[in-house]
Formats: sequence, C-alpha cells, structure tokens
Amino acid sequence: MLMEFTSFTVQQWQRVIFKMGFPRKRQAWVVISSLAVFFCVTLVFNNQVRKVLNSSMLLDNMDLSEGYGLRKLLEDQEAKIERLRSEGMEQGLPQCIIIGVRKCGTRALLEFLDLHPQIRIADMEMHFFNNDENYEKGYDWYRKNMPFSFPSDITIEKTPRYFISESAAERIRKFNSSAKLIVIFRNPTTRVISDYTQVYQNKLERNKSIDRFEDLVISERTGRVNTGYKAVRISMYYYHMTKWLHFFERDQIHVVNGDNLIDNPLEEIRKVETFLGLPNLVTESNVYFNETRGFFCMQSDDKQQHCLGAKKGRKHPAIDPIIVKKMNKFYRPYNKKLFQMIGQKFDWD
Ligand SMILES: *[C@@H]1O[C@H](CO)[C@@H](O)[C@H](O)[C@H]1NC(C)=O
Ligand SMILES: *[C@@H]1O[C@H](CO)[C@@H](O)[C@H](O)[C@H]1NC(C)=O
Ligand SMILES: *[C@@H]1O[C@H](CO)[C@@H](O)[C@H](O)[C@H]1NC(C)=O
Ligand SMILES: *[C@@H]1O[C@H](CO)[C@@H](O)[C@H](O)[C@H]1NC(C)=O
Repeated sequence: MLMEFTSFTVQQWQRVIFKMGFPRKRQAWVVISSLAVFFCVTLVFNNQVRKVLNSSMLLDNMDLSEGYGLRKLLEDQEAKIERLRSEGMEQGLPQCIIIGVRKCGTRALLEFLDLHPQIRIADMEMHFFNNDENYEKGYDWYRKNMPFSFPSDITIEKTPRYFISESAAERIRKFNSSAKLIVIFRNPTTRVISDYTQVYQNKLERNKSIDRFEDLVISERTGRVNTGYKAVRISMYYYHMTKWLHFFERDQIHVVNGDNLIDNPLEEIRKVETFLGLPNLVTESNVYFNETRGFFCMQSDDKQQHCLGAKKGRKHPAIDPIIVKKMNKFYRPYNKKLFQMIGQKFDWD
C-alpha cells in the first residue's frame, strides 16, 4: 500500500516539475532533491511525534523501540481494539466501585479480584466522582477509561479518595442507584501509621523536612489525639460512612476486613465474589505467600506470578506503645458507633 502510494506521489511530482518548465537536463535532479528534502522533513517530524507520544500515557505500555514507526503503532492499537470488538467486548461503565479507604489495601484487593475471569479492573484511579474537573468530562470520558469487557463481566473501578469526598456518594447514586460498592477497613490506628509511613517515604525521596509521628498525632497543647491531622480524621470511619449510608442501602455496600485480607486473602475474596453474584473462581492456586516480600502475591491461571509494587507492604516504623494505646482509646467510641451502624464488628483493640 505504502509502495503504491509512494510511486504514485513521485509520478505526480514529476509531472508538476515538468510543467514548471525546468530545462530537461535538470528535471531529474530537481525531482530527486525535492523528494529527498521531503523525506528528511518527514523523518525528523515522525521522530518528534514519537517523542511526544512516548511521554504520553496513551502509549506508555507500548514498544517504542527503534524503527517502530508511529503509523505501525497506531495500527496495532486499532487492530487490538478491532479484535476485542469482534470478540464481543466493549468498554463498559463500572457496576462496582471500590470507594476506599486509603492505606487499607485497596490496590491489593483490586489485584486479587483481577484474578477472577469475569472481573475487569480499571488500572488507574479515575478520581471521577470526587474531582469536579473530571466529573464535568462526563460519563463518556469515564467509559473511555474503562477496560474492555464482555456483557456478562463486572467492571470495577477503585478510587480510595471517594470515601472521604464530599460529593462522590451523591454523584455515584445519581450515576447508578443500584451500584455495588466495596469499602475496606483496617484497624484505624494501623491505618494512620501506614498513611504516615507513605507520606514520610515520599518526603524522604524529595528531601523534604519530616515531622515526627508523635508530633503530628498528638496535639502539643492538649496532649490528646490531634484531629487536625488529616490522617487521624480519615480513620474516623464512622463519620464518613454515615454519608454513604445516607445515599445507599446497607446491602449495597460490602465491607472488607483489610487486616484479614493480608493474612487470609482468599477468605475475603470469596465474600466479595458472593457479594458480586459471581461463582468462587479465585482459588488456592491463585495466591501464594512470597517469603521475600512477607505477604501474599498473585498467580494467574497460566502461572504468571505477580506481587504489588515496591511501594506497597512497607514496614512501618516502630511507634511508641503509649501513643498506640492512646490512639486505640481515641478510636474506640467511633469504632463502636461504626460497628452498630454497619452491623459488623472488627477486632481492633
Ligand atoms: C521512548 O522512551 C524510551 C524509554 O523511556 C527511550 O529509551 C526511547 O529512546 C524513547 N524514544 C524516543 C523516540 O524518544
Ligand atoms: C447498576 O449497577 C447494577 C449493580 O452492579 C448493575 O446490575 C446494573 O447493570 C447497573 N446499571 C447500569 C445502567 O449500569
Ligand atoms: C537529596 O539529598 C541527597 C544528599 O544530600 C542528594 O544526593 C539527592 O540528589 C537529593 N535528592 C533530591 C531529589 O533533591
Ligand atoms: C517474591 O517476589 C519477588 C519480588 O516481587 C520476586 O522477585 C520473587 O521471585 C518472589 N519469590 C517467590 C518465592 O516467588
């Protein structure tokens, strides 16, 4: 195709040059040099385009090795989409959303669920319902960021920020009032420590100054737990959960025990499968304990092993037991109210 196009173009160009009335002796030279200039410009331009695309998210996972032209890339992408469509797959809006909570194992949960043949996951946190700018892009934009799925599949998106967002609950209800929601809780004190650890590591990498855990968590003025610290507030699950139960029925929200997910992932996954109305197809062979990492990792049916990224499952710093005790005591009344509200109890003391 390209060859035909090229020889056609060259002939057209030759004709133009002849009509311009160059002396016969010079005609061949003019044709060749002008074509050479044209090809050089195209080459340079093509490389520029590739550089721009290379840095864009769209082509992040594609092979952009030398000699792999832009045209080929886009054709491959289109061919892949065409093939998925011909197999009956489309990008569908999520029927289930993991709404939070940050640092409770939402990524682990999502990746364990991805082992199920009828579950399709959105890799990115979409921040669709919590972020006004994204929300205004509309459901079509949201859909275009979803994975391809069969009509019988369940698409899941997760954005932990939804849980604490002011607008997400109401917007999700408007989106689909019978949507299924999943929330995952860990011991609230452990969650604060994990939250602190992540922020601490990020600051460390960027050479930023770091506050000590106890200075953040305990108010210097009162000596009590500091609710001005955001990480402390996120762990006051009761407050946030009230908002979700205002917009959704209790049986639309499945609560995962995040501490148990670490020790016993299959048990929690089975409950989610049941909640989603799916057969229990994630089995013993899909999870294995990785001694090096110190936690369970995933193994697909074709024996591909996969662990969460290096930023997950980090060791927490040692925290003064007196502070831990103080925090546990602080959270106890909120936990009690939460347990009453959701009709489910956790061993958080
Ligand atoms: C694309 O990115 C890769 C890795 O980031 C790099 O090795 C390669 O040189 C880039 N290609 C172009 C055309 O910029
Ligand atoms: C809304 O969510 C329910 C439960 O997941 C699902 O069965 C239904 O198809 C969804 N409706 C739309 C319009 O996506
Ligand atoms: C942080 O500091 C170290 C040592 O002072 C330096 O080598 C490194 O480049 C710095 N990193 C950043 C991101 O500034
Ligand atoms: C554990 O995980 C590491 C890193 O993800 C991997 O290199 C290693 O092969 C895994 N170990 C086992 C026993 O699977």
